[in-house]
Amino acid sequence: MPGVQIDPKNEIIQLRHLRKSFWTTEGEQQVLKDVSLNIRKGETMVIIGASGGGKSVILKHMVGLLQPDGGDVLVENKVISDANHFDTDTIRRKMGMLFQMGALFDSMSVGENIAFALREHNPGIPEESVEEIVARLLGLINLNPAFASKMPSELSGGMKKRVSLARTLAVEPEIVLYDEPTTGLDPITSDVINDLILDTQKQFHVTSVVVTHDMVSAYKIADRIAMLYQGHIIFVGTADEVRETHNPYVQQFIRGMRKLESVPE
Ligand SMILES: Nc1ncnc2c1ncn2[C@@H]1O[C@H](COP(=O)(O)OP(=O)(O)OP(=O)(O)O)[C@@H](O)[C@H]1O
Ligand SMILES: [Mg+2]
Repeated sequence: MPGVQIDPKNEIIQLRHLRKSFWTTEGEQQVLKDVSLNIRKGETMVIIGASGGGKSVILKHMVGLLQPDGGDVLVENKVISDANHFDTDTIRRKMGMLFQMGALFDSMSVGENIAFALREHNPGIPEESVEEIVARLLGLINLNPAFASKMPSELSGGMKKRVSLARTLAVEPEIVLYDEPTTGLDPITSDVINDLILDTQKQFHVTSVVVTHDMVSAYKIADRIAMLYQGHIIFVGTADEVRETHNPYVQQFIRGMRKLESVPE
């Protein structure tokens, strides 16, 4: 379990009574009904919940990619969910997001993908530094420097995910949002990612918000775990509190996951 000192009063992200609906052919689909959740500076918050429940939608609100129908999103006490106050610069500089699908630029090599993020963030950065940082980031995600010249189409899904992670970390964000970082990865690579999340917290005091279905990694990396259920955050607690809770929805979810995890491949 993480052992970093976190001030419970220092909340870097605040979600206050978020509401969000989408319109489908069947009518209005209310995904977030009343979501309130505060992320403390320096903590790793894991969000769990059923597939299609709105976890990715929550992350997209945190990074300003979606605007709520009601309620507020605050980052460092500034409202970012209001179009008039939307401060893309601050958000871009502070936050990195690892998308669920990775989303690398297909026409660029692995190295160019990472370098692109670096150059955008540090205009005028010398080429030697770019090369050096790209090599270091590849090392961080356990990929050989020779991978820099590979094209995304040559990589497995898991490798693409790791490269996306390297690209996200390239800009040294203060807050990193991870959408299912270990899904589809073998257990050893998953653990590389888990350790990376723990290391960025310890070394760089990064705040992480991680959406995952993987309870093994949730228990390993989380300072706190929040559960989304039918449009509400119904539970927030430490890994031990999750294991010990009598909340029937949390129990059912954890038991369901155990069953899934024991299915042989
Ligand atoms: N931009 C959008 N337009 C319309 N509907 C959307 C949009 N984004 C999300 N939704 C819908 O909102 C619901 C929640 O989606 P979301 O991707 O957040 O679920 P999730 O909890 O991340 O699921 P999973 O665990 O499968 O990734 C889904 O029904 C999805 O179809
Ligand atoms: Mg999702």
